[in-house]
Amino acid sequence: MKLLDTFGRSHTSLRLSVTDRCNIRCFYCMPSEQIEFLPRPEVLSFEELTRATKIFCQLGITKLRLTGGEPLVRRDLPELVRQLSRIPEIQEIAMTTNAILLERSAVELRSAGLHRINISLDTLDSQQFKEITRRDNLQDVMRGIQAAQQAGFTEIRLNAVAVKGLIESQIIPLARFCLEHALKLRFIEFMPLNSSGRWSDEDVLTGAKIRDIIEQDMGPLVPVKRSDPAQPASDFRLAEHDGSIGFINSVSQPFCQACNRLRLTADGKIRNCLFSQEEWDLRSLLRSEATDQRIQQTILECVKNKKAAHGIGSSDFKKPQRAMYQIGG
Ligand code: 5AD
Ligand code: SF4
Repeated sequence: MKLLDTFGRSHTSLRLSVTDRCNIRCFYCMPSEQIEFLPRPEVLSFEELTRATKIFCQLGITKLRLTGGEPLVRRDLPELVRQLSRIPEIQEIAMTTNAILLERSAVELRSAGLHRINISLDTLDSQQFKEITRRDNLQDVMRGIQAAQQAGFTEIRLNAVAVKGLIESQIIPLARFCLEHALKLRFIEFMPLNSSGRWSDEDVLTGAKIRDIIEQDMGPLVPVKRSDPAQPASDFRLAEHDGSIGFINSVSQPFCQACNRLRLTADGKIRNCLFSQEEWDLRSLLRSEATDQRIQQTILECVKNKKAAHGIGSSDFKKPQRAMYQIGG
């Protein structure tokens, strides 16, 4: 059975948010204080996450990404990775993390079966890191990156959120840092998902603009053919250097037509889009006597209702009720 929506898109990738908690407070994602995190009993257990994933896999999911909040604040995450990696249909398990807690868990995560890591980092300047994240952990991130490499992770990506008026001065330092350390750099256009409500299209530093800045300093960027048509990033290689840089132009060039992703929130709601207004409750099914088949029906229902595109910029666009940390990115 395939998870086909009404626009012919088939869904093979599932993003599992394992917690809404985080150890930092990036302004584009979280408020600085008075955050109401989910009470523990509302968060899916490892057993529930594993059962839900198995049912998604019966319907064609083959790739997983663990997200949060910050996934590494969930106690014993490697154990979840072990359970998920035993599901035969799963071809890849990846994780998006801020890397602050990665130093102590990189080796265990790798042996548990985690394949790939994306690290969120917007600046190499510790003062600016503090302004963006309202915490002082840049050195922990650096140690986390190093630990991931030493643990044998390859193709590590570094994700930077492109906010206008904020990260321009970091573009070249980040690009050079990534070349030097064989990391893949990706700039993600700032999206309206912050709970403080601060977002206007004026705040988005577009991929096109960042490309200009890089080309002026580092020479031409040459497009690289997409290996996976559902990949949201357009990748380029630097003609005069070894290494590549990608752009996730989610606002200026939406890639909704190739989207193959579904999301499960930490409290067990399925979403068919980052920006969807509707959610389908798997948790209550998982906690009742519902059969796998009944749960499959709800997943299919969610997919059937997926819209063509997020519609950012259109007059009837509505910001989702949940912020990024509550969805999982
Ligand atoms: N716009 C774009 N990217 C965001 N992220 C978090 N909030 C936003 C936003 N408002 C990024 C994080 C992380 C990924 C899950 O999403 O930096 O890399
Ligand atoms: Fe935490 Fe990630 Fe949100 Fe930053 S973007 S506050 S690291 S969940």
